[in-house]
Amino acid sequence: MEIEVVEKEALEKLSKISNVQELESFRIEFLGKKGKITELMKNLKNLPPEERPAYGKRVNELREKIEKLFEEKKQQIQKLLEQEKMEKMRIDVTIPGARRKLGHSHPVLKVMEEIERIFVSMGFDVVEGPEIETTWHNFDALNTPEWHPARDEHDSFYITDDLLLRTHTSPVQIRTMLERKPPIAIISPGKVYRRDYDATHLPMFHQVEGLHVDRDLSVAHLKFTLEEFARRMFGKNARVRLRPSFFPFTEPSFEVDVYLSGYGWLEILGAGMVDPNVFLNVGYDPEEWTGYAFGMGVERIAMLKYGITDIREFVRNDVRFLSSY
Ligand code: PHE
Repeated sequence: MEIEVVEKEALEKLSKISNVQELESFRIEFLGKKGKITELMKNLKNLPPEERPAYGKRVNELREKIEKLFEEKKQQIQKLLEQEKMEKMRIDVTIPGARRKLGHSHPVLKVMEEIERIFVSMGFDVVEGPEIETTWHNFDALNTPEWHPARDEHDSFYITDDLLLRTHTSPVQIRTMLERKPPIAIISPGKVYRRDYDATHLPMFHQVEGLHVDRDLSVAHLKFTLEEFARRMFGKNARVRLRPSFFPFTEPSFEVDVYLSGYGWLEILGAGMVDPNVFLNVGYDPEEWTGYAFGMGVERIAMLKYGITDIREFVRNDVRFLSSY
């Protein structure tokens, strides 16, 4: 009689099992060393000897039946676990990816690189000079004597009496001519420093210097080169105009304007024929050598190209501004 009770209970419990914990408590309750099947076996000794074999057989059959069903249940539950795990690991390849933000060059650097590309394609080398200069390279050698207003302390950042932050890239002309023999065709991009700060001036800004030294160069070569540059930089309709001006290191000297439709004439650089005194300062014979030089403000060109009205935008580091170019 008790056998049927245990069997009924076992089958009922087994059918309700849904996880590993329940499975284990079931095993202990029925199949364990002190489980209900073992208990049933203990009844054997209370039975009359002739009933014992039949009883023992039935209990063993029940054990086998429960073990078999238990094994099946165990497999079922393992399969379920496996499926749950696979479900969690599934990758939905249709979910859109998270876009990585990439940085990019500053607009001033981009324009500077474009200027470099244009002149390199015309055969100019790119050279660089130091930002801390001697007053000799920055002024004297460039035919800018002590009394010249450009040497006024109010315009320049002096480090000592003889050292300053270069106020223009023109000292690279001197360094290059001292280092090389003509013919020379170089440009020199870099930072320059002046004591100025307003909507159109920064205390640090960028220039690209140009120098071409050879025999028989004239203003025509200068004008052609700058026109070619303007056309490549601003479009093939760009026109160039030279206005008389003065720089201590060039003679004659010009301010160079570019005509842009929608803007009119805009001054973008200073230029001129290398002054004979400059050639003498670097040991070149001014009777043999001629040259033209120019210097342009990179921020100024970037402002024109991108329609920026306040030069200080370049140094505010507002990412919304920077990433729009
Ligand atoms: N160095 C001059 C300036 O900073 C520009 C210039 C360069 C002019 C070369 C003539 C020749 O304004």
